[in-house]
Amino acid sequence: MTTTQETLVRAPRPGAELIAEPMRSRWSPAVFDTERPVGSDVLDGLLAAAAWAPSTGNSQPWAYVVVRRGTPAHDVVRDALSRGNSGWVPTAPVVVVAATLVEEWEGRKPMGDFALYDLGQSVAHLTLQAQASGLHTHQFAGFDHDAVARGLGFPPAYRVMTGIAIGYVAGDELVAEADEDLQGRHAKERVRHGVGEVAYAGEFGTPYAG
Ligand SMILES: Cc1cc2nc3c(=O)[nH]c(=O)nc-3n(C[C@H](O)[C@H](O)[C@H](O)COP(=O)(O)O)c2cc1C
Repeated sequence: MTTTQETLVRAPRPGAELIAEPMRSRWSPAVFDTERPVGSDVLDGLLAAAAWAPSTGNSQPWAYVVVRRGTPAHDVVRDALSRGNSGWVPTAPVVVVAATLVEEWEGRKPMGDFALYDLGQSVAHLTLQAQASGLHTHQFAGFDHDAVARGLGFPPAYRVMTGIAIGYVAGDELVAEADEDLQGRHAKERVRHGVGEVAYAGEFGTPYAG
């Protein structure tokens, strides 16, 4: 199966027709193409998209460490993964570790809870730029955050929040070679609350119905 077919299969059901690209074809694979590296030029675009996200007072509280497979930094991430993430994260050629400023540091003041909000929005930009570049991303929070913060040298003022596994989605053959658990996670049905359950008209509790 090609990447294009794969992304079509994984598109939201129902609602795909309402959603523009690249949001429509974004999903989080559990098996990446281990043989296909991510070029620096493409990665530059992802980080630029993340940097150009809006933020509270333009505070830009995010910080990213780019980790390529086969480097000592990748060993730090791999050794810190939860059991549930240790099987699939290392199949991605790149992991970007995402953190946000939560304490004053070098004259920069944190913006309270908005530091978390802003990081999430910046990561969303990164993931969509990745999708538009033919890549896939899979975010993960299941790892020893302190070990990664220490191992990658984040100052204590930064809170490490997530890793973002980045790569090309595996084709059929590679997926077939993956263990059963990963194959199941890769093909797992994608579900969401209905719009009427999360969007309200005029007041909370009155489902938005168009
Ligand atoms: C903050 C955050 C933490 C996540 N942590 C994990 C994780 O530790 N392991 C994992 O397999 N997926 C993780 N995910 C991925 C979600 O499970 C996934 O995005 C969700 O099931 C929706 O699937 P989709 O991205 O294909 O739409 C995380 C996603 C986010 C945004």
